[in-house]
Amino acid sequence: MTDLAPMSASLKKAIADADTQAALEAVRVSALGKKGSISALLATLGQMSPEERKEKGPAINGLKNEITVLIEARRAELEAYALEKRLAAEKVDITLPLRPAPAAAGRIHPVSQVIDEITAIFSDMGFAIAEGPDIETDYYNFTALNFPEGHPAREMHDTFFFSPGADGTRKLLRTHTSPVQIRVMQKTNEPPSAAYLTAPIDPPIRVVMPGRTYRNDSDQTHTPMFHQVEGLVIDKSSHIGQLRWVLEEFLKAFFEVESVKLRFRPSFFPFTEPSMEVDVQCDRSGNEVKIGQGSDWLEILGCGMVHPNVIRNAGLDPDVYQGFAWGMGIDRIAMLKYGMPDLRAFFDADKRWIDHYGFRPFDLPTLFGGLSS
Ligand code: DAH
Repeated sequence: MTDLAPMSASLKKAIADADTQAALEAVRVSALGKKGSISALLATLGQMSPEERKEKGPAINGLKNEITVLIEARRAELEAYALEKRLAAEKVDITLPLRPAPAAAGRIHPVSQVIDEITAIFSDMGFAIAEGPDIETDYYNFTALNFPEGHPAREMHDTFFFSPGADGTRKLLRTHTSPVQIRVMQKTNEPPSAAYLTAPIDPPIRVVMPGRTYRNDSDQTHTPMFHQVEGLVIDKSSHIGQLRWVLEEFLKAFFEVESVKLRFRPSFFPFTEPSMEVDVQCDRSGNEVKIGQGSDWLEILGCGMVHPNVIRNAGLDPDVYQGFAWGMGIDRIAMLKYGMPDLRAFFDADKRWIDHYGFRPFDLPTLFGGLSS
């Protein structure tokens, strides 16, 4: 029978020297695997006399247990060491100053912010929001809105026309958001779709329609692409008094002032009768224009009672329904509210400008949180 001491010593050294899990596993297999040295010794027990087995058995089993325990201990040691090494490599210095997250560094364009403010105010008043296409037909942009064929009002709009299509008609970039009025009224009047067999939704209609508009025009206060918001109310007895109230409430909320004085001047739009332009009271004595005080007036929007022809063109009966509409330049009121002097800068994509005039992404305008605070 071999003396166990040298085998024990060499296995212990091999275990201590194993510096990876794989090396340790190789030692384990060499000792305790099927063909391992200790397994071979255990196999000899069967051929021994009971006396010899009594003497050698405990020694061999003792060695087996000792080596098993040592291997487990070394394995735990190697695991702890590997974890320590990983933690050291992945160390994060939490005392470093925070880098701004991309969402915090980005800015919301004042036009987007103002559109959100406008929709927040009108939603609160019970208006729905609707949108229409930027590329319109001559019918929606002009004809349905009661612009007579060949009437000079069509020329007034400096329209961008596309080349004629196969059917000879020219599409155009909408010159105002008023065509969305027609689309909204038509939708209201649409027969129910097979998908949900409810009756067509009749007026009352209360919608605001923000969006991009286009005219061939460019200077400090005009850009070829600009933004408007259209408003439309259609019911059986809507009247100018309500129009006035809606506009006053909106302007007070938007400019965040206690009161505004409005001045209604007679005007002309083919799609309203009577038509009016609205000036808002302002103070121009300082560096910036202040709304809701002073003795100056600033033209701010066009409005009127929707022309019966427009109501008829949209498929509603003008003998039953009547209403009012208004249209307002969004960029213009954004300039006024936030003191931005040059409209062209809105669309220059200059990062310094957006850093200065832009809004933080989580500053969502709400009436309860303060619109612009
Ligand atoms: N669409 C007109 C424009 O762009 C603005 C306007 C005036 C809209 C009167 C209206 C309205 O809805 O009633 O100049």
